[in-house]
Amino acid sequence: KTLDDLGDVTGKVALVRVDLNLPMNGGQVTDKTRINASAPTILELADAGAKVLLLAHFGRPKGARSSTMSLSMVVDAVQDVLGREIMFVPEVAGEVVAQSIGIMRAGDIAILENTRFWPGEEKNDPEFAAAIAANGDLYVNDAFSAAHRAHASTEGLTKLLPSYAGRAMQKELEALDKALGSPEKPVAAVVGGAKVSSKLAVLEHLVGQVDHLIIGGGMANTFLAARGVDVGKSLCEHELTGTVEKILDAADASGCTVHLPYDVVVSKEFAANPSSLRICNVHEVAGDEMILDVGPQAVEALGDVLKTCRTLVWNGPMGAFETQPFDEATVKLAKTAAALTSEGSLVSVAGGGDTVAALNHAGVADQFSYISTAGGAFLEWMEGKELPGVAALTR
Ligand code: 3PG
Repeated sequence: KTLDDLGDVTGKVALVRVDLNLPMNGGQVTDKTRINASAPTILELADAGAKVLLLAHFGRPKGARSSTMSLSMVVDAVQDVLGREIMFVPEVAGEVVAQSIGIMRAGDIAILENTRFWPGEEKNDPEFAAAIAANGDLYVNDAFSAAHRAHASTEGLTKLLPSYAGRAMQKELEALDKALGSPEKPVAAVVGGAKVSSKLAVLEHLVGQVDHLIIGGGMANTFLAARGVDVGKSLCEHELTGTVEKILDAADASGCTVHLPYDVVVSKEFAANPSSLRICNVHEVAGDEMILDVGPQAVEALGDVLKTCRTLVWNGPMGAFETQPFDEATVKLAKTAAALTSEGSLVSVAGGGDTVAALNHAGVADQFSYISTAGGAFLEWMEGKELPGVAALTR
């Protein structure tokens, strides 16, 4: 159910799970993307006359109050985005919350304290969930990015209150369905980032789902090593080459083409614009060199692969993009994907960890069909896992 199924909410108390786990620096929110994402849901409910109580976590305080992880720190940023005055309530359940609701008018918005200050949150304790639910009339989950956690505020509450997907959750699920649920084929996946070990389950799942698997970043070195390439002093998980061979076999068996770089950008040191930088074939990497980016010929060829595809899922950068010039492959491939998306020939969905930063760096994030605000949840979705917060809403 979505907000379209709500009916009259005037004066009703809506408990709305959002993701306010925001990047902070010196007590200031440095990126408001997640607030922007949930603003339509919050404002829609407020404008429909509900009393809106925002539920969210911040950091990992391990079930105890922490002055450095109070959600009071994000109130100003939320007010800025919503353009409304927001009340802060230093509890999530009980009398203080009830009294706050008592003084709220229809359409008012409040942020409750960090749900993870209470151990019942992460334990998904039914008593804790019941205490929160006691102050609400309905529950809305708008935090796809926290939906991989089976916590009281993401899963437990759905058993106690009429529950709905918020607009951001709805948009996210629709976009993800277009990407891997019922995609237009051929489908390509770009998987980059430093380590195979952090994305094993993703790779194992994707080879059975996509037509082209493009491997970049440090993890490509482990794939190259599995194919017998000497990668010099590149970041490489040699102990995983056997596992990677199995992934390559599974890809062969399911008709998925795995694309590895055949030329690479190497350097003797990892620094910006190093004097030892050169471009070479993967078979020519010297013992004292490391691979830091995919080479220009391979990127060109990968762009041609994308031109044959209708759908793209992207997670992780192609090289050490934060240090120039090792951002070139990521930027070039991202621009190709963005151009194909703008032409209407590609549906492109990206998310997870560094990915959004990499696509922002390439200046093309807003040209992708959909950019997920999720980190861990996006990866678990790419692993083909059912996310407890989503499953609870669809039950
Ligand atoms: C995130 O930032 O990815 C989500 O808010 C989930 O946070 P968590 O990994 O601490 O559960």
